[in-house]
Amino acid sequence: MNERIGEIEKTLEHVDGWLSRDEGRFLYETARRCTGRGAIVEIGSWKGKSTIWLANGLKDGKGGKVYAIDPHTGAPEHHEIFKTKNIWTFEEFKKNITHAGVTEFVVPIVGRSESVAKTWDTPVEFLWIDGAHAYEAAKLDFDSWFPHLIEGGVIAYHDSTFDDVKRVVRECIFLSRHFRAAGVIDSVSFATKVHPARQTSWDRIRNRYAYFLNMIYGLRALPIPGALRKPIKALFKKIIRSVQ
Ligand SMILES: C[S@@+](CC[C@H](N)C(=O)[O-])C[C@H]1O[C@@H](n2cnc3c(N)ncnc32)[C@H](O)[C@@H]1O
Repeated sequence: MNERIGEIEKTLEHVDGWLSRDEGRFLYETARRCTGRGAIVEIGSWKGKSTIWLANGLKDGKGGKVYAIDPHTGAPEHHEIFKTKNIWTFEEFKKNITHAGVTEFVVPIVGRSESVAKTWDTPVEFLWIDGAHAYEAAKLDFDSWFPHLIEGGVIAYHDSTFDDVKRVVRECIFLSRHFRAAGVIDSVSFATKVHPARQTSWDRIRNRYAYFLNMIYGLRALPIPGALRKPIKALFKKIIRSVQ
């Protein structure tokens, strides 16, 4: 398995993006475990880094499609970082998907998640959300796609240590009656959809524990003094791994 992960990482060497190795591995494993009862929907593809992890998971699992939704014009935070609204990532996205050899598992949809959701009619087994990160945008992604996620399907948000996304995952996932088996991997928060009648007290405790871990991971951004930085960050990682 590690060999396969190494192989995928190699194809990603020159692909621009913000995903950590463990986050990529989580996407790969979750996609590989998909049963085929629904598709994978990705909100926010940029140049294809997360898409390639997901598609490789399907390739090594039961097959299927990743519907990769993105207007390919960047999110407001990119306009700020790159000091321009003139962003177009679709050509590089297609090139990277082809180079990674996963075109048959990817259906690119150039559009905004909330518009695409309106006419969507395919069940979703894994919903990966990495679009715009403002509260309203991240909440709109949830509201638009939650109804399409099947029971037993997985939802995951990237950058859930950012304040606005953290608020969405707290309100809509960690404190919700609709999820169980919540967890965190680096900045990713994830959980499995469950009918509220089947959510147990233990599920609620575990979801809250995952929220606590999400907050601990967020503390990594604090200015920790030099010599303490490495051991403290390693400790955070160890505590977080305890729920996986
Ligand atoms: C952080 S990047 C995604 C990174 C990508 N997942 C990766 O692994 O490299 C966010 C992306 O969300 C896209 N985006 C912004 N608003 C969106 C929306 N309403 N629906 C879908 N995608 C959106 C942007 O165009 C941008 O490419």
